[in-house]
Amino acid sequence: MDLREIRVNAGRLRNTLEKMAEIGGTPGGGVHRLALSDDDKQARDLLIRWLREGEIEIKVDEMGNIFGLRPGKDLSLPPVMSGSHIDSQPKGGRFDGIYGVMATLEVLRTIQEKGIRTTRSIMIVDWTNEEGSRFSPAMAGSGVWAGKLEREWVYTRRDLQGRAFGEELERIGYKGKEPAKRWPIQAYFELHIEQGPILEKVGKTIGVPMGIVGISWYDVEIEGKANQVGPTPMEGRNDALCAAAEMILQVEALPVEMGGNMVATVGEIHNAPNSRNIIPGQVQFTVDLRSWDDLLLDRAGKELRNHFQRIAAQRGCPARMEKIWNVEHTAFDGSLVARIAKIAEEIGYSSHSLVSGAGHDATYVNQVGPTAMIFVPSIGGRSHVEVENTRWEDCEAGANVLLQCILQAAS
Ligand code: GLV
Ligand code: MN
Ligand code: MN
Repeated sequence: MDLREIRVNAGRLRNTLEKMAEIGGTPGGGVHRLALSDDDKQARDLLIRWLREGEIEIKVDEMGNIFGLRPGKDLSLPPVMSGSHIDSQPKGGRFDGIYGVMATLEVLRTIQEKGIRTTRSIMIVDWTNEEGSRFSPAMAGSGVWAGKLEREWVYTRRDLQGRAFGEELERIGYKGKEPAKRWPIQAYFELHIEQGPILEKVGKTIGVPMGIVGISWYDVEIEGKANQVGPTPMEGRNDALCAAAEMILQVEALPVEMGGNMVATVGEIHNAPNSRNIIPGQVQFTVDLRSWDDLLLDRAGKELRNHFQRIAAQRGCPARMEKIWNVEHTAFDGSLVARIAKIAEEIGYSSHSLVSGAGHDATYVNQVGPTAMIFVPSIGGRSHVEVENTRWEDCEAGANVLLQCILQAAS
């Protein structure tokens, strides 16, 4: 049997993706499957059921990361690992993360069905809390596994309702016994939707990212003076929300102000007491800065801090800015990146080199062993929204590239 001729079962892949999309499915056609929620649990249970049907050995670590092993001929060799994440953004899409997990499942099923015994073991993984939306930071499961985040610190992170990560992990029954501790890997592949407009624009099927941008996250808290809106004159107010508004526009202006390649976003804001006839007394918001240039990111954080202090002083609203998370840019393994482009060409798919502006667990896994990603086009470049979509032919193409990557690495 010529292994290079083997292809995945596109219909079966579509079927598993559609079944998964029912868990946490939204009326708008997306998925709301926040990390460590009941829906996350249900999707994990289904993944494990499917893996057991394929006689895959399951391990769950103390971060809730799920690993499934298909043993190779030589168990002394480091495995080839592939996967992504099951959790989603609030009212997010039905492909982000889960596509990489379901495509790896499809690769395992294909290999099983063809009766192939690889030399190295193949390991599928679902990383806990990639999104960082319910619990910050993002990529928490892979970060602890890679030794880059503190497990106990992550356990104490709280959602908006005040529930702790560690308690929720236990509640859904996924606080496993295995230590969340890195082990040697031969290679890690993460197949993902692009989440941006480039592949569609250049008309190519497979995206081959050179790496992932660096990301800095900040929490900002502003103290104002709450008061009755009617009797309080406009002059002399300390309106925390107005201070926040000025700061947020400053965040938006920063990339142009500083030059270079950077994006800056405020995506989450909380206003208290949040009543139409009370002057806002307290505001919290988040800042997300991203760039390939780590020094620029660092300078941007300092620059923002200065701007915020100036605005806070002018408005008499003291502000606190705390850096809660940072990952430097990631350059993937050059030979794996080249191999992905070559495999795409061999199968007959066009490909295009790019940089990932989205964060992925591959960032942390890259610090453990050779890592690379495979992208497929996002329709309209939309992601983290319910209309997130990718053509089924492109899902199939990405899974075929993943299959060949895994077969080559495990042979
Ligand atoms: C995760 O999806 C991110 O890019 O923040
Ligand atoms: Mn993702
Ligand atoms: Mn995402």
